[in-house]
Amino acid sequence: MAILVTGGAGYIGSHTCIELLNRGYDVLAVDNFVNSKPEAVRRVGEICQKPLPFVELDIRNREGLQRLFCEHKIEAVIHFAGLKAVGESVSMPLEYYENNLIGTLTLCEVMRAAGCKKMVFSSSATVYGLHNPVPFTEEMPTSATNPYGYTKVMIEQILRDLCVADPEWSAVLLRYFNPIGAHESGKLGETPAGIPNNIFPYLSQVAVGKLPKLYVYGDDYDTPDGTGVRDYIHVCDLAEGHVAALDYCENHTGAQAINLGTGHGTSVLELRAAFEKAAGVPIPMEVTGRRPGDIATAYADTELARKLLGFTAKRNIEQMCTDGWNFIRQNPNGI
Ligand code: NAD
Ligand code: WQD
Repeated sequence: MAILVTGGAGYIGSHTCIELLNRGYDVLAVDNFVNSKPEAVRRVGEICQKPLPFVELDIRNREGLQRLFCEHKIEAVIHFAGLKAVGESVSMPLEYYENNLIGTLTLCEVMRAAGCKKMVFSSSATVYGLHNPVPFTEEMPTSATNPYGYTKVMIEQILRDLCVADPEWSAVLLRYFNPIGAHESGKLGETPAGIPNNIFPYLSQVAVGKLPKLYVYGDDYDTPDGTGVRDYIHVCDLAEGHVAALDYCENHTGAQAINLGTGHGTSVLELRAAFEKAAGVPIPMEVTGRRPGDIATAYADTELARKLLGFTAKRNIEQMCTDGWNFIRQNPNGI
């Protein structure tokens, strides 16, 4: 019985495939490489010393998916495939809704027809919107401020409705906070195309000399040092969280949202200082205005993940920065 991983060549998907392969799962990964490269698939195999079974496929391709479910006995799906850039989603809303929603609906329909009714879905802390108090707990109201965020809110709802309509379904809606860092081998990490939007890949590129300085988006927030506070979680901890969620999915039905974070907030200035220390290089910075849509502080209540999944993130900010630096140093131009 195989675990199908959609978006398996992507940043979080590839790290999760490593965790699954290392734990002896039978894995089948698919990706259309819209935001990743075949080299990531090869490197997963290199790290695990066994090839990652992989099919190049767009999950909106119904016939392709059906073939996959016919040829393999798939017991559960970890569904990462989706477009994820917030700014791009504002300028290309139709592409985001089409890819993320149609992709997920097609996948769910094919799963249902094949009798596979277990899914671990990549949701996001973005669903907590602008107005909830920290720490964010899973029962808080959800909302969004951009098309990307709306796709997560909508897909969560679709999966909840599906679980109500058919009590055999099980869906774990994992709300990731801010995944950063890289595999300890330095072979795999995040390689965004163009100029990064998120702070960690941006910092990494400044550290390695590809960008001149970090622009800090506001130092007048109501936070201890005035800069934005986020709950950064090591991508390898996140990968371990997915395996725990898969176990949960095997033994429970219904839809369940669960935060994956550390429960600790780190400011932009603290993250920069930790990266400087790990890399041993200075990271020049300039404070600019706030970025529209940003909130001051976001961090997870991690109690439910501990209780339901037995999951607690193990790696600290220093480890995240050390591994991230190790990766960018070895792969300054991506993989
Ligand atoms: P990523 O872009 O590295 O990985 C997503 C993968 O999906 C890519 O390899 C891409 O090529 C693939 N893909 C996209 N559309 C596809 C389609 N129609 N068919 C097949 N493959 C397709 O992103 P990531 O950071 O690894 O994120 C994985 C998931 O987690 C996404 O759903 C994302 O929205 C979610 N998420 C990410 C973060 C984050 O900060 N990285 C935070 C919260 C949630
Ligand atoms: C973190 C902090 C910025 C860049 C985004 C998505 C969210 C989720 C994770 C997918 C903030 C500051 C950033 C820079 C900066 N993704 N910053 N200079 O905004 O918490 O979340 O990624 O679901 O949906 O919105 O992450 O890394 O962009 O920002 O000062 O060049 O760093 O203001 O305080 P964010 P981020």
